[in-house]
Amino acid sequence: MSNQPDRIIIFDTTLRDGEQSPGASLTVEEKLTIARSLARLGVDIIEAGFPYASPGDFKAVQKIAQTVGTENGPTICGLARATKNDIKTAAEALKPAFKSRIHTFIATSDIHLKHKLKKTREEVLAIAPEMVAYAKTFTDDVEFSPEDAGRSDPEFMYQVLEAAIAAGATTINIPDTVGYTTPSEFGALIKGIKDNVPNIDQAIISVHGHDDLGLAVANFLEAVKNGARQLECTINGIGERAGNAALEELVMALHVRRQYFNPFLGRSVDATEPLTNINTQEIYKTSRLVSNLTGMIVQPNKAIVGANAFAHESGIHQDGVLKNKLTYEIMDAESIGLTNNQIVLGKLSGRNAFRTRLNELGFELSETELNNAFLRFKEVADKKKEITDWDLEAIVNDEIQQA
Ligand code: KIV
Ligand code: ZN
Repeated sequence: MSNQPDRIIIFDTTLRDGEQSPGASLTVEEKLTIARSLARLGVDIIEAGFPYASPGDFKAVQKIAQTVGTENGPTICGLARATKNDIKTAAEALKPAFKSRIHTFIATSDIHLKHKLKKTREEVLAIAPEMVAYAKTFTDDVEFSPEDAGRSDPEFMYQVLEAAIAAGATTINIPDTVGYTTPSEFGALIKGIKDNVPNIDQAIISVHGHDDLGLAVANFLEAVKNGARQLECTINGIGERAGNAALEELVMALHVRRQYFNPFLGRSVDATEPLTNINTQEIYKTSRLVSNLTGMIVQPNKAIVGANAFAHESGIHQDGVLKNKLTYEIMDAESIGLTNNQIVLGKLSGRNAFRTRLNELGFELSETELNNAFLRFKEVADKKKEITDWDLEAIVNDEIQQA
């Protein structure tokens, strides 16, 4: 398949689906800060928001398109329901981006058609290609999603996908909207699409999934084995209800188990080329930044970025790791940008060490914020022997809230 990418495309939707986490709303400036960090992380596409949803979202998408969507930056994407108003508004917000994508969707499951859309299958089959063609008048890069694909009748979905591709969709995204499928089912769904949609080779297959049963990442990995080449995910797995598939888990699974996945991408087992464009050393920093700005705490035992992910508690494990890290570690903490921090911050620490640690924790402060936070740090350090990362985050969050 000549038009298929030789790497897995990482489509980040932290700023769109991730922001749909209850209580995780972000200001335009905060979204911009996260978008810059996602660009440094090396994501291929940033879904920056849903421009028709609110003037704030429109502005955020427009600003991100302007400042992050530069020639060498990622593609900037805006979400739109399959209506002309949504699509036109998304196109308007995306105008400043060097590379832009419109992502339009309509549900294909009977449950959604009957109770939400109140439309027939015939109507949906007509709307999908019509709206893809409309989106195509604004950009060459159009993504189409049959919402609730995981619970849709596959035969009907194949017809909708075929029509969407014929109308110009270059990516077709298969969402498990309610996190209902199991890995083998989701893999089979992707295989079914490859085998039954006649023009599928003209599009890239993407997957999108929620974590209601804790299976989103496992589902995606099965999808990769069956031909999916774009993964839609969020930092720390934040998102609607139980969240979305977590970017850091997907990327590190593909990185650590490269030899296992290589053949599914047509490579030799031992090929050393990375499977994604992600700069894994930016993962920890980006995770902290997203957690700090959204207020969504990362559970300590969270894979890859949780506080305990690289901690060894039991004596047997500690002994093993001291003898050889490979005994109990499958990846280096350094590979996600966790420096083996030798600097212990205390009352004698200087501004430079303070600033460096804050940067490592994903904070980007103005000079004034840094000065004020540093003064507060000195006050706390006078009372406490050792300042932990949690203390630092509390200090900085207090400072940001007061500013
Ligand atoms: O979960 C979902 O179905 C979505 C679509 C808009 C892709 O977020
Ligand atoms: Zn979603």
